[in-house]
Amino acid sequence: MQTTTIGSQTIPALGIGTWAWGDNLFWTYGKDYGAPEVKSAFDSAVNAGITLFDTAEIYGSGESERLIGQFAKKVKTPLFIATKYFPFPWRMGTAVVEKAIANSLARLQVDCIDLYQIHWPLHFLIPEKTLLQTLANAVKRGQIKNIGVSNYSAPQMRTAQKILADLGIPLVSNQVNYSLLLRKIETNGVLETAQELGIKIIAYSPLAQGLLTGKYRNTNPPKVPANSIPALALRD
Ligand SMILES: NC(=O)c1ccc[n+]([C@@H]2O[C@H](COP(=O)([O-])OP(=O)(O)OC[C@H]3O[C@@H](n4cnc5c(N)ncnc54)[C@H](OP(=O)(O)O)[C@@H]3O)[C@@H](O)[C@H]2O)c1
Repeated sequence: MQTTTIGSQTIPALGIGTWAWGDNLFWTYGKDYGAPEVKSAFDSAVNAGITLFDTAEIYGSGESERLIGQFAKKVKTPLFIATKYFPFPWRMGTAVVEKAIANSLARLQVDCIDLYQIHWPLHFLIPEKTLLQTLANAVKRGQIKNIGVSNYSAPQMRTAQKILADLGIPLVSNQVNYSLLLRKIETNGVLETAQELGIKIIAYSPLAQGLLTGKYRNTNPPKVPANSIPALALRD
């Protein structure tokens, strides 16, 4: 399989997203599928050589991380786990971020998270600098190996990269919506800036949430909320 590097680690370039694992807000975990099916998907992925698992503390309110933690314990293959912190407006201050990291570590049952990403650039009450400083401290404590961001624009990426560089830590990745249906990053400066600064782009919803797979037909339209990202992409 083609490989890529994130920070100092070389991993297969293809990873698996685990938003649907444990989530019944957007997906139908607990109704159409459950833990045995997710375990089977996990095993198939690992057997196919996948090591990058992308999750987030908000996926299934922690259930996605919990499932990965349980399954990863049972395989010998070293995995690369990427998770995310969600900067909800009511989450103020360093202590909240530190607690979020500790909770993710506990759910994932690991001592160190390979890639810890800021899920969205929503800095209402916690300034970007404070948030990144807190993550940098966690890197220094050995709780996080690499820091990434998600859904950051080119200028936001540049600012985050500069703050971290001043702390002696690289910004390794920006996870963004990128598929054959949504190629905005090729023209809005995100891809160019990432290449310039050596920041890896991680494509999310690469199958446009099923629109590219032939899953949906007139007789089987997507049951996604109105704020679905691919739906917005199609309206562009
Ligand atoms: N950072 C962020 O803000 C953000 C946002 C969105 C997603 N993500 C990450 O990106 C990951 C992937 O994105 P995503 O889940 O939004 O969308 P996606 O991977 O583009 O598409 C998932 C959809 O594709 C369908 N599919 C996959 N393989 C198929 C096949 N062989 N035949 C038919 N249909 C197939 C799935 O159907 P079934 O459901 O039937 O399997 C599912 O509906 C997430 O799990 C998450 O880790 C991150």
